[in-house]
Amino acid sequence: MKRVILLVAVLAAGCSAKPPVEPASLTPPFLETPIGPRPATTPALLAKGKQVYEANCVQCHGAAGKGDGFGAPFLVPLPRDFTSGQFKFRTTASGQLPTDEDLFRTISRGANGTGMPPWQYLLPDEDRWALVEYVKSFDARFADGRPRAPMPLPGAAPEPGSAGRGKEVYAKMQCAKCHGDDGRGVGPSAPTLTDTAGHHVNSRDLTLPATFRTGWAEREIMRTFETGMNGVPMPSYSEAMQIQEKYDLIAYVKSFAKHGPGDQKRQTAQSMEGLGAPDRTIALREHAWKYEPSEIHVKAGEVVRIDFSTTDNGLGAGHGFALDGIDQSVFINGAMVGAPLSVTFKVDTPGRYHFYCATQCSTSELHPHMQGVLVVE
Ligand code: HEC
Ligand code: HEC
Repeated sequence: MKRVILLVAVLAAGCSAKPPVEPASLTPPFLETPIGPRPATTPALLAKGKQVYEANCVQCHGAAGKGDGFGAPFLVPLPRDFTSGQFKFRTTASGQLPTDEDLFRTISRGANGTGMPPWQYLLPDEDRWALVEYVKSFDARFADGRPRAPMPLPGAAPEPGSAGRGKEVYAKMQCAKCHGDDGRGVGPSAPTLTDTAGHHVNSRDLTLPATFRTGWAEREIMRTFETGMNGVPMPSYSEAMQIQEKYDLIAYVKSFAKHGPGDQKRQTAQSMEGLGAPDRTIALREHAWKYEPSEIHVKAGEVVRIDFSTTDNGLGAGHGFALDGIDQSVFINGAMVGAPLSVTFKVDTPGRYHFYCATQCSTSELHPHMQGVLVVE
């Protein structure tokens, strides 16, 4: 991963003219990613896409888009092979190609917990649209004229989702085969799961919200149920469940996430906005794949800002910070290519909270020694 990181770092350093991103703009979920104005599709746009791709994407996705760049062997999951016709993050029905907007969203926000960086912090809208055109040019299926339209997502259910009922749906749908009874992603089928190219695929550990590729929001989980993930064994359940069952199951999936002390409810990113100036600022760094300090003390109710930096590479690429109980607000993914390196938050309930690195860039687990404790007094 180091070579990849260095390359990205060098590129990012060359583009330092962009103003720093405010912590408030932490990467939004997939469906909430703003779609920038689309330039006309011209040969010049495609040529620009090739140029931007060769500067930023080849090291992982390869010159011919086959997902075989020199960084690929260091990555789990592997970079996407753009010639395979298999895309995971879509609004389209199972088996279909993504829409252009879907590709724009993925390129803009990256994929949480993987090596795929959020390019919205480095590349302007026009460059990301140029990349959409260039990525499509690797596979003739994108030009076959077949419609690639978003599926409608189910509206409200008759009743709010219930984790208790969702538990029964989880059993009935046999989610545990892959995700396990405890949601940790190690069900009986987990060791045998492969993608369409035959590479082993890890089933998602549902207890770690910051690793949900497209975000941990209800709508994102619903979208995954509807569309499934092409090329890997996460099926579509669009036809298999009633609307109420889907909402109940989402409530159950969310209940796997580790809670803070007591019966603390998870807080959403929105609740962390508008906190104002921090009462306390903490410099946290990664050193030799550990956090320094690994224990942080704050007071309940005070506004805390964490400024994150790393030592094993210049820009903090490849490492992150997530906090159990409020992962969705306190979450830095990869800290790559100009993504925010600070998060501001507030914890109201005293207790000990676990923090961890939520970025996958090694071939085994998420950096296993990047763990720490936030003590809220
Ligand atoms: C550091 C390695 C790395 C770089 C650099 C990188 N990607 Fe990726 N990309 C990945 C990985 C890994 C995945 C697969 C994520 C997954 O399967 O969950 C991915 C997935 C994708 C996908 C597939 C989304 C889907 O729905 O399946 C697209 C599109 C994409 N990348 C575009 C790009 C573009 C365009 C660039 C350059 C601006 C780029 N990537 C640079 C690693 C990288
Ligand atoms: C045959 C195995 C299999 C079954 C059955 C299965 N999943 Fe999955 N699921 C996976 C795999 C594999 C992934 C990760 C795919 C990837 O990112 O490559 C996944 C990913 C997910 C995600 C993560 C989405 C994200 O944004 O990262 C959720 C949520 C999920 N599954 C929920 C469920 C639920 C609920 C059920 C039952 C209705 C279920 N899965 C059934 C294999 C399975």
